[in-house]
Amino acid sequence: MAQYSKIVIGASIRYGKHNPLVYEFVKVNRDELQKKSTAFFTVNVVARKKEKNQPNTNPYMKKFLELSGWQPDKLAVFAGRIDYPSYRFLDRLIIRFIMLITKGPTDTSQTYEFTDWNKVANFAKEVL
Ligand SMILES: Cc1cc2nc3c(=O)[nH]c(=O)nc-3n(C[C@H](O)[C@H](O)[C@H](O)COP(=O)(O)O)c2cc1C
Repeated sequence: MAQYSKIVIGASIRYGKHNPLVYEFVKVNRDELQKKSTAFFTVNVVARKKEKNQPNTNPYMKKFLELSGWQPDKLAVFAGRIDYPSYRFLDRLIIRFIMLITKGPTDTSQTYEFTDWNKVANFAKEVL
């Protein structure tokens, strides 16, 4: 990482968790990260809800900061997408069930993109 002055790390949520490799990366590179300008973003579908799309209101972001002990300079929360047709049978069933109880879309023949790409572009600009 030595050749870079800014480091941006992004990770999505699968069944309530960021990939453990992200935590591992942060742990192993802690000293190097401390010296750089850093940013972290999380992608999940809970963030499709207005009241859960900010760093201080998104449960996965809060958990990440707590578990990693890392304090990036910039944070962002982005809503991802639900792509039912690409999921395995069991994932489709489980995600549909979660959508049912959280008032999300349940038509498994469709793909739903919740990403606010302006928000992504603004974050990119801020980081630059
Ligand atoms: C198997 C699976 C489990 C998921 N579990 C969650 C979850 O627990 N909470 C959530 O908010 N989003 C969940 N999502 C939604 C993902 O965060 C969203 O689809 C994101 O765009 C995935 O990005 P990726 O394909 O780059 O991993 C899940 C998606 C998949 C495919």
